Order: sequence, then C-alpha cells, then structure tokens
Amino acid sequence: MLKERFVGLLIFAYFLFTSRFSSAHPLCRAHERSSLLDFKASFAINKSVSSDPSAYSKVASWAQGRTTSNCCLWDRVECDEDTGHVISLDMSSSFLYGNIDSNSSLFKLVHLQRLNLADNNFNYSQIPTAISHLPMLTYLNLSYSLFSGQIPSEISGLSHLSSLDLSRNYDFNSREGLLGLLELKRPDFSSLIRNLTNLEELSLSFVNISSTVPTSLANFSSLTSLILKGCGLKGKLPVELFQLPSLQILNVKSNNFFGELPQFNQTSALNVLNLASNSFSGEIPTSIGNLNSLTEFHAYDCGLSGEIPFSIGNLTHLKYLDLSINNFSGPIPSSIGNLTQLIELDLDSNHFSGPIPLSFSKLINLESLYLFKNELSGTVDFDMFLRLKNLTVLSLSNNNLSLIIKPSVDGPPPQYIFLGLSFCNLSSFPDFLTHQVRMENLRLQGNHIGGPIPAWLMNMSTETLLGISVAENSLTGELSRAICNFSSLSVLRLSGNKLVGELPLCLGNFSDSLAALDLRDNSFSGSIPTFAKGNQLRIIDLSHNQLQGKLPRSLANCKMLESLSVENNQLNDVFPYWLESLPELQILVLGSNKFHGVIKAPQTDLGFVKLRIIVISYNNFTGMLPSNFIQNLKAMKSSSVGDLRYMETTYTLRPSGGNEVTFLFGFTITITIKGVRRYYPEINDDLSFIDLSNNNFGGEIPEVLGDLNGLYALDLSNNNLTGGIPSALANLKRLESLDLSQNKLSGRIPPVLEQLSFLQYFNVSHNNLAGPIPPANHLMTFGSSSYEGNLGLCGIPLPNKCGNSEASGLVPLPSFDEEQEDHSGSPFQFGWKVVAMGYGCGFVVGVFIGHVVITRKSRWFAMTFCVKNLHVKRKPRSKRGN
Ligand SMILES: *[C@@H]1O[C@H](CO)[C@@H](O)[C@H](O)[C@H]1NC(C)=O
Ligand SMILES: *[C@@H]1O[C@H](CO)[C@@H](O)[C@H](O)[C@H]1NC(C)=O
Ligand SMILES: *[C@@H]1O[C@H](CO)[C@@H](O)[C@H](O)[C@H]1NC(C)=O
Ligand SMILES: *[C@@H]1O[C@H](CO)[C@@H](O)[C@H](O)[C@H]1NC(C)=O
Ligand SMILES: *[C@@H]1O[C@H](CO)[C@@H](O)[C@H](O)[C@H]1NC(C)=O
Ligand SMILES: *[C@@H]1O[C@H](CO)[C@@H](O)[C@H](O)[C@H]1NC(C)=O
Ligand SMILES: *[C@@H]1O[C@H](CO)[C@@H](O)[C@H](O)[C@H]1NC(C)=O
Ligand SMILES: *[C@@H]1O[C@H](CO)[C@@H](O)[C@H](O)[C@H]1NC(C)=O
Ligand SMILES: *[C@@H]1O[C@H](CO)[C@@H](O)[C@H](O)[C@H]1NC(C)=O
Ligand SMILES: *[C@@H]1O[C@H](CO)[C@@H](O)[C@H](O)[C@H]1NC(C)=O
Repeated sequence: MLKERFVGLLIFAYFLFTSRFSSAHPLCRAHERSSLLDFKASFAINKSVSSDPSAYSKVASWAQGRTTSNCCLWDRVECDEDTGHVISLDMSSSFLYGNIDSNSSLFKLVHLQRLNLADNNFNYSQIPTAISHLPMLTYLNLSYSLFSGQIPSEISGLSHLSSLDLSRNYDFNSREGLLGLLELKRPDFSSLIRNLTNLEELSLSFVNISSTVPTSLANFSSLTSLILKGCGLKGKLPVELFQLPSLQILNVKSNNFFGELPQFNQTSALNVLNLASNSFSGEIPTSIGNLNSLTEFHAYDCGLSGEIPFSIGNLTHLKYLDLSINNFSGPIPSSIGNLTQLIELDLDSNHFSGPIPLSFSKLINLESLYLFKNELSGTVDFDMFLRLKNLTVLSLSNNNLSLIIKPSVDGPPPQYIFLGLSFCNLSSFPDFLTHQVRMENLRLQGNHIGGPIPAWLMNMSTETLLGISVAENSLTGELSRAICNFSSLSVLRLSGNKLVGELPLCLGNFSDSLAALDLRDNSFSGSIPTFAKGNQLRIIDLSHNQLQGKLPRSLANCKMLESLSVENNQLNDVFPYWLESLPELQILVLGSNKFHGVIKAPQTDLGFVKLRIIVISYNNFTGMLPSNFIQNLKAMKSSSVGDLRYMETTYTLRPSGGNEVTFLFGFTITITIKGVRRYYPEINDDLSFIDLSNNNFGGEIPEVLGDLNGLYALDLSNNNLTGGIPSALANLKRLESLDLSQNKLSGRIPPVLEQLSFLQYFNVSHNNLAGPIPPANHLMTFGSSSYEGNLGLCGIPLPNKCGNSEASGLVPLPSFDEEQEDHSGSPFQFGWKVVAMGYGCGFVVGVFIGHVVITRKSRWFAMTFCVKNLHVKRKPRSKRGN
C-alpha cells in the first residue's frame, strides 16, 4: 500500500516534469475535444454565480481552430502524456450556470482522474448517476455548486477516490439559515464510504445526514481530513476518530453530538479540531495535552463544564483557542501563558473566576483576546495588555475586575479596533485612548468615570469609530457638538450619566449610519433636534431627561425606527399621529409628559400596524378611547405561540475596506406597578401591551379592545371612563395584567372574565361597580385591594357577604386593607415575579444596545438567533475553516 503510493508519487512528479518542460505536448483526442466543447456549450456563463474575486470563466478560451485545436493546451485541461486522454479538469469558480444530468458530455471523458466543479451554479441538479462512467477518479469536488437531492450510490463505486468534497451545497437565499440541499440517506453514510477506503480527504459539510458517525471510519488509515459541519449528526463522537493515525483535520461543528468527549490519543496527528456548537457534556479530558500538534482548537458553545485542564499548556503550537460560551469554571490555568503562538484566545461567556493569569503577558502574538462575561476578579495592571503590541481586539467587560491604567513604559500602545472595558472599575478615561486612530468600538459602560467628556476623546478615531458607549458613569457638563465629529457612528450611548444642557443640533444628522441613540437618564433640557431625511435610526431613547417643547415632526424621517421612548420629560404636544408613517415602529413610549388632546384615528389602514407596546400614561389626553386607532393595531392581534425569543434587532454595516459589523440591539424593560419599579434586561419577542393610565380619557371602554388578543397587559386606570366592563375583554386570552382601577365604571364584573386564566394581576378598585365578585377561583385569589372602593361590590375576598339582599342595594362598608398590600408574600407580588421572568411584561423604558459582532465571529450571531450560520452570505472563502 505504502509502496504503491510512493510509486504513484514518482509518476506524478514525472508527469509534472514532462508537462512543464517537454516541448512535445500530448495531442488531444478529437472525440474528447468535442465532448469538452459540448460541455462548454451546455452552460450559460453568469458572473453573478461566483463571488470569488479570482474567479473567471475557464472555458472562455476553449475553441476549435487551427492553432487552438489541441485541447490538452486548453485552460485547466490536462491530458495523459502518453495516451493524450483528458485526465484532469478543473472548472472551479468558472461562472458555469445551468443544469447538468447524465447526458452531459462530461461523462464521455472516461479517463478523468481529477474533476473539480466547485463554486458554480448547477441549478439544483441531482448529482448525475453517470458519475460512475468516470471510474478512474481519485479527486472529485462538487462543493458549493447548488447540487441537490440524494447522493447517488454510484459515488460509492469510485473506489480510487482519495479526495471527495460534496460540501456546502446549500441554498444561500434561504432566510432560514443554511439548509443543506444534498442528502445522504439511501445510501447512507456508512454504505457511501464502505468501498472508498483510499480516502484521504472527505468533506460532507451541510449534507443532510442525520445519523451517527459510522465506526467503520476507524479503518480509514489514510484519512487526513474529515469535515462534517452542519450534517445533523448525532450520538457520541466515536473514540476511533482520535485513533486515526493520519487524521490532521477533524471538524464536526454544528451537529447534535452529545455525551462526554473521548480520551485523546497520544498517537494523534491532529492539527485542527473543531467541536463547536454541539451538545456535549462533562469536562475536557486531561489527555487533551496529548494533542500536541494542534494549531486550532474550537470548542465554543459545546455544553462543556468543569475546569480547563492544566495540560492545555502542552499544546504549544496552538494559534486559535476558542472555549467560549460554555460552563467552564474555576481559574484560567496559568499554563495557557505557555501557548506563545496564540493569535486568538476566546474564553468569554463562561464562569471562570480568580485573576487573569500574569502569564498572559507572554502571549506576544495575540491579536484577539475575549474574556468578557466571566467572574474574573482582582486588580489588573493594564500594562500587561499594553505590552502585547499585536493585540487589536480586547474585551474584559462584565467581570469583577479593577483595572489600573498607567501610562505605558514600553513604547506606544497598541492600536485597538475593539476595546471592551465595561464594568472594570475605571475612574477616568484611559490616557492611551488619545493615541487610537483606528478604533471601531469602544465600550466603557458601568465604570465610575466622572467629569465632563474630554475634548480629546471626541477627536479619537473620528473616521473609524462605529460604536461608543460610556453609559452608566458619572459624566457631567454639557454635551459638546464635537460629539458630531464621529462621522461614521452607528451607536451612541450616553445614558445613565449626569449630562446637562441642550442637545447639540447636529445630533440629528451627523452620521448617515446612526442606528441607535441612547441619551436616557441624564438632565438634558431644551428641545429635541431635527432628524435628517434618509437616516438609519432604529432606536431613539431620550427618556428621563428634562426635554421640552414638541416632538420634532422630522421624526417622520426615521423610516427604520422601531422604538421611540421619550418617557419622563416635559414635552408638550398632541398625540404624534404622524408617526403612523413609520412602517417598523413597534414601541412607542410617551409616558409622564404633558401630551394632551384627543387621539385621532390614523389616516390610513397601514398606520401603526407593527406597534406592540404603547405607553402614554401620566399625560393629559382627553376624549374617548380611540376605537379606530385600536382597530389598526394589527401586531397586537396575533396570538401566535412560538418559541420564546427575546426581542432584538440587528443592523449590519460594512465600513469601506473594513470588516462587516453587525450590531445587535436588545430591548430592556422596567415594570412599574404601585410605585415598585423592576428592571428586566430582556423582553419577549411577542410581548404586547397598552398603558393609557393616568390620563383624562372619558366615555366607555371600546369593545374593539377585545380584538387585541395578543395583549399581555392592559392598564386603563386613573381615567374618567364610564359604562360597564365589556365582556369582550374575556377574549384577551393571554392577558396577565388588567388594571381598570380609579375610573367611573359601573355595573357588574362580567363573570366571563374568569376565562382569563393567565391573569396574575387584576384591579377594578375605586369605581362604581356593584354586584357579586364572580366566584371563579382565581378572581377570588386577588386581594381585597383589587376590589375596594366600589360601594356596590360584595363577596370573597371582600369582607361583606353578598347575602340574599345583594341585589336590593344594601351598601357594604368599603374596606381599606393597606397592610395586605405591603405584605411581601402577597399573591400579587409573587404573581408579578412570575410574569416578569416568563414574559417580561411591563413598562418599557429603555433599550440596551447589545453585542457587536464582527463577521469573523459568526458564532455570536448564531448563538443569539438560535439559527446556525444565519449570517453567512455568498462570499469568498475565508482563510480560516469556520
Ligand atoms: C445569473 O445567475 C443568477 C443566479 O445566480 C440569476 O438570478 C440571473 O438571472 C442570471 N442571469 C442570467 C443572465 O442568466
Ligand atoms: C434552472 O431550473 C429551472 C427550474 O428547474 C429552470 O426553469 C431554469 O431554466 C433553469 N435555469 C438554467 C439556467 O438552466
Ligand atoms: C438524455 O437524452 C435523451 C435523448 O437526447 C433523452 O431521451 C433522455 O431523457 C435524456 N436523459 C436525461 C436524464 O436527461
Ligand atoms: C464494494 O465493492 C464490492 C467488491 O469490490 C462490491 O461487491 C460492492 O458492490 C461494492 N459496494 C458498493 C456500495 O459499491
Ligand atoms: C491510541 O491509538 C492506537 C491506534 O492508533 C491504539 O492502538 C491505542 O489503543 C490508542 N490508545 C488509547 C489510549 O486510546
Ligand atoms: C505533554 O506532551 C508530551 C509530549 O510532548 C507528552 O509526553 C506528555 O504526556 C504530555 N502531557 C500531558 C499532560 O498530556
Ligand atoms: C507552563 O506554564 C506553567 C505555569 O505558567 C509552568 O509552571 C510550566 O513550567 C510551563 N511549562 C512549559 C512546558 O513551559
Ligand atoms: C505581530 O504582527 C506582525 C505583523 O502582522 C508580525 O510580523 C509579528 O510577527 C507579530 N508578532 C509580534 C510579536 O510582533
Ligand atoms: C388637562 O386638560 C384639560 C382640558 O384640556 C385642562 O383643563 C387641564 O388643566 C389639563 N390638566 C393639566 C394637568 O395640564
Ligand atoms: C368625566 O366625564 C364626565 C362625563 O362622563 C364629565 O362630565 C366630567 O367633566 C369628566 N371629568 C373630567 C375631570 O374630565
């Protein structure tokens, strides 16, 4: 066997030599020439098929002519030196577009040994069974070419194959993520490879296999590369894979493997091991230290836990180590400092504790270091990072670290692209920021930085900066118009500071790509600036300031706007019905201002159709509750019960020449009930609620409210509403909170309300209701405070029994049960806790502006969307395997 390969190698070398240097080229066979021309003619040439920058049409130069008729000289065609038969055809990235079937003249080239059709568009053709006419094939590559259907058993007859690549035939137009088009069911994986024992490279990524890995792979002693990404594979990862003596690359990313990792064998030659995005359990075995040829180890989002074994320091060739998004705990082993070749180290989103090992200062080749979202603690002398001159991406955010930043003693600081130092106990802006000229993202949220924003900060990386957050610090003073120097900014977060004065006028038009503007919770005054046409704003949060005047009509220019919050200011305006022209608007929070007047019906049927959360409480709106307006709220009428997802929105931009960056925005809420505010960092995707409380609405509660069957909460309290409680409210099947208190409602509580089985909070106190409280179990479980102040109500839980005279108008005494209300164990509080955790129902006040995803780190995206590889678009192959 070995001998054979050696001889083969010699022949190959000879072939190379002769084909390069001999002047006597083999002459092409006429019938093969016409087969090649027929093959060429059977496709359209379509440049949009490939986005590989080096792609070009290899067949373009093929032609029949006196000087060109020797097809052995054609581009990417090779003939056998002696016989003149075509033995190799490389049509990769050739812009071929069209169907291919068994009639294709390609299959007349029966001497072919190497065939590469990768990166074309075969228009969902099946792999032709006539592939069996090419029995000499040693190399077959049909990847990334839009083949679909079951892989034919004929492939398993190609017993000379040493390299087989059927990967990445997926539909990149699908919004569902990447759906593999090829299937390996009949034959299955095991029978496909049974006779292919010469295989050295096998790639079946995104082939829908959905079985276990055949243990027969253990016999494939020549196998050097096995790539099985996204194949729906399940079961345990066979230990035999780690005993294959030649295996250098093993990639099983994005499958459904479970169970503990096997022991790693000392004889292993593995270079690249990718176990990411599976459902393993248990620890990384100490025997990982045996894999001392490893250069890449990817095990993010894998379900692993326990401590990282010290033996990982044995893997001194490692360049990439990614253990993020697992449940690892304990200290980060100091032995990682021995991995001096490391270029990227990702340990984020685990439970690592203790200090950052000082040995990290030995990682001089490091370019990216992610440690965010752990429980690391202690004081860190930042100088250890300033010495890592190649470090461009560093995130230490969201730990319990205290950074000491002194001027570096050791030359100029590194030029960062991404710097995350949120919640790092900083008390001032680090000096080294002055020298940054290509920063794209700076995060300093949740520190103790006081004083005004220094002028120099607003001259840092003005061209490149995409996102900056200095939220939740103690910044004071006015916001200088120099903030508008950041001409490419997408995200500006200054919330939770003590900034004062008027907003610079330029704020509404300084960056074409501004997507999120978060100035919440400062002391800004004056009016809201004008927003330019064509802006990209998705989130505007100006709440909890002292802004005055009207809402600028230019908000109607924010066509992408999803969330607008101006809660708790001193705005004095009528209802902004003109926002109905914003097709994406989901959240509108106007509470606690001086809005007033009657709410008009929307002008069109399409106004406010996506609105799901509306809070206009604590204003002075008057008139009837607007039935027409309510009728338009289509988003609140859906009651689809899907997976629990959190509401978020993304925004992707590609700065010229830079990496594609995707911002992920989440939405946060604060619930206020009876003066108790609670903050929740995430809200459910289909949460919808209406808060019209504390206004001066009059008239009756409109029946159409009963159509909004997606509603979780409805608060109409503290108005001047009259009439009865409509029975139609019983249609609000998801309702968890209903507050009608402090109105002038009369009549009985409709017994059908007992159908509201999710109701956790119910309040009709202080109205003119009468009659018995419906004896449904859960309506009775609400405390008497839910019913008090209605002179005519009776029955449990009120102290006054209805008796036989309840209809005769006997007036029971009102009850004031303050004690029960404050009781911490009351059903009311318990109820709301449950609601808040499960669904996050309440007043929306803020936004959080989430992670930034750099395309290279595709997994962040995958993780947050629960759809693997959603972001992958058709683009040139990256140098790295994932
Ligand atoms: C080129 O291919 C794309 C699909 O990749 C297709 O949408 C387009 O219509 C094709 N153009 C021509 C001229 O065939
Ligand atoms: C691709 O397939 C579709 C349907 O199968 C067919 O209508 C279309 O003509 C094909 N396109 C090419 C370029 O062969
Ligand atoms: C092959 O071509 C013949 C005639 O040209 C036709 O009858 C047959 O259906 C074709 N087969 C396939 C698989 O396209
Ligand atoms: C494998 O090879 C054996 C003998 O060479 C043959 O009988 C069998 O049909 C082949 N199996 C497949 C799946 O091609
Ligand atoms: C390591 O692999 C060899 C075969 O390559 C095998 O004989 C040996 O039992 C394996 N050792 C362990 C500990 O799995
Ligand atoms: C570390 O690697 C050496 C070989 O370089 C090996 O002998 C040793 O067993 C390994 N240690 C661990 C703990 O895996
Ligand atoms: C690896 O690092 C640890 C602690 O940093 C050290 O004790 C050990 O000697 C190092 N091992 C090698 C092989 O460098
Ligand atoms: C840093 O990066 C440069 C350029 O990419 C490279 O030449 C150098 O080897 C890297 N490592 C160190 C320690 O500078
Ligand atoms: C609310 O509006 C009414 C009538 O429009 C007015 O009389 C009243 O003073 C307003 N109340 C407040 C607090 O502005
Ligand atoms: C409440 O509504 C009644 C009519 O139903 C009206 O007479 C009264 O003035 C309203 N009260 C306020 C404060 O607007």
